[in-house]
Amino acid sequence: MSELYKIANKILQNGKGILAADESTGTMKKRLDSVNVESNEKNRLIFRETLFSSNSMKECIGGVILYDETIRQNTSQNKSIPELISQSGAVPGIKVDTGAKILAGSKEEKITEGLDGLRERLKDYYQLGARFTKWIVEPEVLMDGKHSAKDCFNKTSEVIKRCYDELDINKVDLKGTILKPNMILPGTDSNETISNNEVAEMTLESLKNNVPSEVPGVAFLSGGQTEVEATNNLNQINIKNDSSFIMTYSYGRALQQSALKFWSKDVNNIKGTQEVFDHRAKMCTLAAQGKWSESLENSK
Ligand code: 13P
Repeated sequence: MSELYKIANKILQNGKGILAADESTGTMKKRLDSVNVESNEKNRLIFRETLFSSNSMKECIGGVILYDETIRQNTSQNKSIPELISQSGAVPGIKVDTGAKILAGSKEEKITEGLDGLRERLKDYYQLGARFTKWIVEPEVLMDGKHSAKDCFNKTSEVIKRCYDELDINKVDLKGTILKPNMILPGTDSNETISNNEVAEMTLESLKNNVPSEVPGVAFLSGGQTEVEATNNLNQINIKNDSSFIMTYSYGRALQQSALKFWSKDVNNIKGTQEVFDHRAKMCTLAAQGKWSESLENSK
C-alpha cells in the first residue's frame, strides 16, 4: 500500500478526526482578539502547545493541520511541534496554500496562491515532520448569506463534482486523499432552519452522488456552526451513513472555541484548558461513530 493510503487511513481510523489548527496569523489574531488575548508568536504557541499535549490527542485526534509558523516552533520542553504531535500517535500535516488574493480583473473573485515553488516547500515541510497537506481537496460553500439549504445542496454538489473532474484530469490518486467539505446547511441570514436529520440526509446525498468510491473518507469542516451543532450533525450523518466513506471531523472552531475562551481567562491554566478541549474532542469522536448524545454532552 502506498505511504499516502496508509496515512489517510491512519488519520481516519476508530472515530478519530482532524484538529484543524492551521489558522493563518491573520485569522489567529481575529480569534485571539475575540477573547482579548494579544496575538503574538508566544501566545499562539502556548495555546496550540496546550491543545497538542492534551490527553485526548491519543484517543481522538488522528491528524493535526498546522500553519507555517507553528510547524517551525519548539515546545517549552524543547521538542519540535511535529515531534510532540507524532508522539501522541497523530499525524502532523501542513496547510500549503499562501492565502487568497483578489483575482486580476475581478471585483470580488479571489484566487488562492501558493502553487509556484510548492515542490520545494513540500520537501522542507517533510523534513520538518509533516506527513500530509491540506489544500486541494477542500471545497467550501460558506454559511454566510441568505441562501437556502437547497441552494447549498446544489452548489456544494456542483463544486464537489467539478473538483473531482479536475482531480481526475490531473490523475490524482484518490486513495491517498481525504475530502474536507462543508455540511449542507441554510445560510445564516436565510431565516430557514432545518433539522439535524435533514442536514444529515442532504449532506449524505450530495456526497454519495459526487464523491468517487476510491476516496477513503470525508472530514467535515465546522464552518461557523456552534460546537454542539457541528457535533450533533456529524453524529446524525454517522447514524445514517450508508456510504462506503468514513465520515469524521476536521474542525477548527468547533474543537477550539470553548478551550480558547477558557484559556483566555487564565493563560496559565493549562490543565483546565486541556480538560475543556478533551471533552470537545471526545464528543466529536463519539459523533464520528454515531455514538454521541445530548446527555453525554452535558455529563462533564
Ligand atoms: P472550521 O472548522 O473552523 O470551519 O475550520 C476548518 C478549516 O477549514 C481550517 O482548516
